[in-house]
Amino acid sequence: MDSVRDITKVRALFPGAERSTYMDVAVRGLLSSVVRAAVDEYLDAHMSGEWDKGQMLASVESAREAFANLVNAEPDEIAITKNASEGLNAIAASLPWGRGDNVVFCPELEHPNNVYPWLNLKGRYGIEVRTVEPRDGHIPSDEIAAAMDDRTRLVTVPTISFSPGFITEVRPIADACRRSGAFFLVDAAQSVGVVHTDVEAMGIDGLAAATQKGLLAFYGTGFLYCRREWAERIRPAYLARFGVALGGDSHETAMDREKLQLAAGARRFDLGNYNYLGVTAAKASLEFLLGLGVQRIEPYVRSLAARLAGGMLELGLPVAGGEPGPHLGHIVAVGESGGGRHYTADDPRMNRLYEHLVGNRVRLAIRRGILRFSLHVYNNEADVDRVLGLTSDWLASSTAEGS
Ligand SMILES: Cc1ncc(COP(=O)(O)O)c(C=O)c1O
Repeated sequence: MDSVRDITKVRALFPGAERSTYMDVAVRGLLSSVVRAAVDEYLDAHMSGEWDKGQMLASVESAREAFANLVNAEPDEIAITKNASEGLNAIAASLPWGRGDNVVFCPELEHPNNVYPWLNLKGRYGIEVRTVEPRDGHIPSDEIAAAMDDRTRLVTVPTISFSPGFITEVRPIADACRRSGAFFLVDAAQSVGVVHTDVEAMGIDGLAAATQKGLLAFYGTGFLYCRREWAERIRPAYLARFGVALGGDSHETAMDREKLQLAAGARRFDLGNYNYLGVTAAKASLEFLLGLGVQRIEPYVRSLAARLAGGMLELGLPVAGGEPGPHLGHIVAVGESGGGRHYTADDPRMNRLYEHLVGNRVRLAIRRGILRFSLHVYNNEADVDRVLGLTSDWLASSTAEGS
């Protein structure tokens, strides 16, 4: 595949970017014509009966390698999963837990899929769930570190929260985990593909992601990174043929019933047949993103987000986190946090602004009661200015109506 090198020409590969002003990658990303072509090829091969399993398994390896490159890991440190929650659960279910061990996290800023696994362990093994409150929408890294003790087995955070979408300062947490020997697990569902997520630089031991958001592919495929030193000490809770080292080219039926040799590194978390269609899409999209370079995508998208946040503030609207700063990635949250509410804002004005934008073909979401705009490489300044213009018109007309 020829990769497009000029970031401003990328938009042409995403027809959906012209149909609406698409600011909803935090739900799911737009599909590119690059991914569409790879999927068509897969479907043609399947329909014609020329589908080749060897080739498909090679695709799985290419996707694994591409994801490893994306997060700065080795391919053996990557398992193929269905989604982010499967990766998180694979670690939760496989670490050896003892009664009285604890897990530290900030549930208020977690997606429920990174809360349930820990509540489940509480019920199954009597582990203590130690929770920390957010600070103005941020994960308080210092308080997370302070909540740890010698029974802390795992600490988990989102690299970027789903709402209000701030970037987590992970390094101090990683350092605290390193000092105490706890596993540092991140839910990277919102960051991978948009905001550079480097497991080495960030000191991450485990990372779970799915491909439908910033990776711009389908639901039903995901990746789990597990640092080799950890993975090789872990016996996976589930095991099937792709998690077993059969040796050389041995066929899966060449099973040694006496000696069970787990596959190297995180490969032991692979199970049976893969979602080959999902992997085909992920491979094409990952290669496309790697061709562009997330190190180039990130500053581009963050500058668009800063333009949007700054513009909303100038219009007098409340932007979570205030002025653009290190917390601001690709998600701009507008409104006052509505706590537990999901799909509607507490502030009726914000619900009306949402309706106005949606009515004018802007795609965005409401999460935890705030308007959530989320951007990717297919967005441009004209998108941002269009949303600001629509917002400004709406403010003018609602002020006139109110007066
Ligand atoms: C932070 C975060 N984690 C996880 C998910 C979804 O998890 P899964 O891929 O398992 O459906 C989402 C969004 O849907 C999310 O925003």
